[in-house]
Parts: sequence; C-alpha cells; structure tokens
Amino acid sequence: MATTVAQIQTSVSEFVAKPRKMLIGGRWVDAVSGKTFETYNPATGEVLAHVAEGDRADIDLAVKAARKAFESGPWPDMSPSERGRLLWKLAELIDQHSEELAELETLDNGKPVYFSRIVDVPTASDAFRYYAGWATKLEGSTIPISALGAKYLAYTLREPVGVAGQIIPWNFPLIMASMKLGPALAVGCTCVLKPAEQTPLTALRLGELILEAGFPDGVVNVIPGFGETAGAALASHPDVDKIAFTGSTEVGKLILNAASGNLKKVSLELGGKSPNVVLQDADLESAIPGSAMAIFFNQGEICAAGSRLFAHKSIFDKVVEGVANFSKGFHIGPGIDPANNMGPLVSKEQQERVCGYLESGTKDGAKAVVGGKRIDGPGYFVEPTVLVDVKPSMKVVREEIFGPVVTAIPFGELDEVASFANDSIYGLASAVWTRDISKAHRLGAKLKAGTVWINCYNVFDSALPFGGYKQSGWGREWGKPALDLYTESKSLCARL
Ligand code: NAI
Ligand code: MG
Repeated sequence: MATTVAQIQTSVSEFVAKPRKMLIGGRWVDAVSGKTFETYNPATGEVLAHVAEGDRADIDLAVKAARKAFESGPWPDMSPSERGRLLWKLAELIDQHSEELAELETLDNGKPVYFSRIVDVPTASDAFRYYAGWATKLEGSTIPISALGAKYLAYTLREPVGVAGQIIPWNFPLIMASMKLGPALAVGCTCVLKPAEQTPLTALRLGELILEAGFPDGVVNVIPGFGETAGAALASHPDVDKIAFTGSTEVGKLILNAASGNLKKVSLELGGKSPNVVLQDADLESAIPGSAMAIFFNQGEICAAGSRLFAHKSIFDKVVEGVANFSKGFHIGPGIDPANNMGPLVSKEQQERVCGYLESGTKDGAKAVVGGKRIDGPGYFVEPTVLVDVKPSMKVVREEIFGPVVTAIPFGELDEVASFANDSIYGLASAVWTRDISKAHRLGAKLKAGTVWINCYNVFDSALPFGGYKQSGWGREWGKPALDLYTESKSLCARL
C-alpha cells in the first residue's frame, strides 16, 4: 500500500518529537555526558528537535567501534560485490523514504521542500548507487620492473585507508553525508560522521536506514555535536586514518593543524567566491535566469555560488536588470510550503553574518539594485540582493558571503575578465556564458577553478569530480577521484 502524505507527516513529526541519540557500534546511545542540544526550524525560529551532544568521549567510543569494525567482524571479509549490494540497498531505502527525508531536510535547514525533493534526496541516493558500482572496480595494476639480478612480478593493490572521520556542513546535509560515506564505504573504510550542529537530523535518519540496509555494526557511526568539541576531537584523534571536511576555509586550516599529530590523510572542500562571466554574445534568455539561479539557488548557501557576476559592458545593464527582475519573482517563505522557492537562511547567526556583509557593502559605497536587507518576522529570511558600484577591494567582493547576495561588475576584454575572475584567494567554481565555442574554451582554460560551467551553472553529478584550486581546498570529491581519498596504494614485488 502506498504511503500517504498524512503518514509521512506523522513519521516526520514523530522523528523530531523524540530526543535523538547518536549511533555508535550499531546502537543508538545517549552522550556520555548526558548532554543534549537543540536544533531550530529556521523558518520560525522555534525549537525543532533535541539531539544528543557528542564530545571527545563519544568520538572516542565511535572511533573504537569503527576501528573494531574495520579490523574484525564481517566488514573486512565482505566481498566487493556484497559491499556494492549494501550501498545499492541503502540508495533504494533513501528513495523509498524520499518524501520523509525531503521534509526533514527542509524543516532542519530551511530550504524549499520543492528543491529537497528534486535535488537533495535524489542526489543522495544517486551518490550511493554510483559508488555501489565502484566497489567491484577498484583495480590495481601490474608493473613491468627492470630491477637488476632477477625477474620479478610486481603489482599494486588498492586498500581502504582505515577509519575515516567525516565532518560536514549544514547547507546540503543529506547530500554531504552521502557523498562522503559513499566512496569510503565502497572501498571498505569504516566511518565516523559528524553532521553540522545546525542540521543533524537527516544524517541521524540516514543512520537508521544504514542499519536497516544491513551494514555491520560500527561500519558507520554518527556523532552529532559542535565543531569546537566533537569536530575538533575527530580531526585530532590519533586512531583516525583520514579526515574529510567540508566547510569554511578558516576551519579547514584548523583541521589541517589538528590532523598533523598522526599525519592523517586530509581532504578539504572549502569556501568559494566563484566568478560567473557573461560574454557579449551570450544567449541572455538562458544566461540571465542561469546567473540568477547561480547565486540564489539554496538561498546562496552553496560553496559554488556564482557570487561575482561579470557581464560585458555592452550588456551589463540588461543582465543586471534581468537578474534583479528574476529575483523579484521568488516566492519567499517557509520551505515546507511547496509554493515557496526561496527559504530562510539556516540560522540567526548566518542571517546576521549575511546582513553584516550587506551593511559593509553599503558603507563602502555599493548600491543594491534589488534587495539589500533582512525580511522582518519570525524566521531568518534575507532578500535576494544584487549589488552594483562595487570595487575589487571591497569586502563584499573579496569574502564569501554565503547568502543570496551577488556583486555585479562590468568588463571590456576577455583577457581583462580572466584576471578579474582569478583575483581571489578562492578557486572553487566558475562559469562562462557565450555562443562562441572558442571563447568559451579559451576562458575556460584560463580560469583558476576546479569547475568551469559553460552555458550552465550548479550542475553536479555523482560522476563529475568537484573541488577547489587555491584556498578552496585539497583533493577532489565525487566521481572516481574520491576513491583515491579513501585508499592507499600498496606495491607488491615478488622475486620469481
Ligand atoms: P564551519 O566551517 O564552522 O562548519 C562546518 C562544519 O565544521 C560543521 O560540522 C562544524 O561543526 C564543524 N567545525 C567547526 N569548527 C570546527 C573545528 N574547530 N574542528 C572541527 N570541526 C569544526 O562553518 P559555519 O561556521 O557553519 O559557517 C561559516 C561560514 O563557512 C559560512 O558563512 C560559509 O562562508 C562557510 N561555509 C562553507 C561551506 C561549504 O560548503 N564550503 C559550508 C558551510 C559553511
Ligand atoms: Mg563555524
């Protein structure tokens, strides 16, 4: 029998009504300290759920459980095919609970349920399905060596790196959990996942589905808690072999220091200030809405956001006006109402951070063509904003705002825009809008960014590597490169 909307809403409200525990060694337990913390519904500012607050002692128990599951029991003996089958089963469970997960994500993060349904949940299940396929395809190679004195058979093996600590942010909580766990589990690692304190709920629900799928105890442990305590304990833990982090560049640097104690492997996916370049010959019918969604999708809370819009001077006014008009068409309100396509920011703190940037922009002389302030009332809403009259030295142009705020700057020559675009400590994503295939690829080659979108924006795929140049991070996630982050290569050499 099909699940009804009423049943889904009941299961979501039951889930948030019960104090949520943490997952260690296959069991749901309270924090050692007994402490809990609250998560809020950012559309109303009201308490949504109470969650066990992990700290150093809980991280330690989780790492022990992950270590045990890595070294003994069913997991290390499982065939690649069995691992793949578990990952596939998990993908199916996510799809079976898609509506429930979408609503939970929206209540916790604020994002429109419209997008949770068509982006967050299917991307999460696709990540597990994609990495399920990789479990059986981790090949080493045979190496023809010429060492003196004898003949040898030399080959390489790919082995799981061990216990992986994974610290994720609040902007795409379920996707972040899935794209971190997927490759790690495909190669045979065990995991300790720490979701963001603002949005732990879908990771905890995912933990239940992981047990239901049949993953052995301790293979995945989920410890909600704060960054300075639980996160820092995981990053510095001497028995964690690898740490994968997504979040601010500032915390990325702390992770690096914390990881130095045992030189655990580190991958970082950090901030961005991505340039979105509209050339003179672009098809504005797609470039204008594309540029608007480049910044306003997910309320601008996305590391890849096209937050610096560069448009050729001949079309600058038209593009700015078009993006401003597009932004007036948003239905802004609680994301749980499917009629709304822009929700609140994740927290009061984030709302204040973004509004602080708006004030600094105004003080520095920038002008808001549209938007420019918070929206009064309960909930943490900010108007979609387009800033002009900005200079490269302004804070609003240099720093990641992580909200619905774009700075628009005109340019003249192709070479000029490349240097404008690259004038940033970040290098995560970028885009070029043009009908000229040669210009697209010429500029594409010049942009110092891990991703260049051509005539599109925010196209993500499980198979497409993603990550940053410069201070946007270390390593590439998604696709095949993510497998390298969770494996060691071993060379075996036998004298014949
Ligand atoms: P954050 O970097 O502090 O938080 C991200 C994750 O790191 C959370 O799970 C948090 O608990 C954890 N964390 C925080 N401090 C830690 C520490 N010392 N050791 C280990 N883990 C720690 O980001 P926050 O404060 O939520 O947002 C601040 C800014 O960071 C945003 O305005 C945005 O510019 C950027 N950000 C970038 C993201 C991205 O996707 N690249 C995602 C979230 C935030
Ligand atoms: Mg922080």
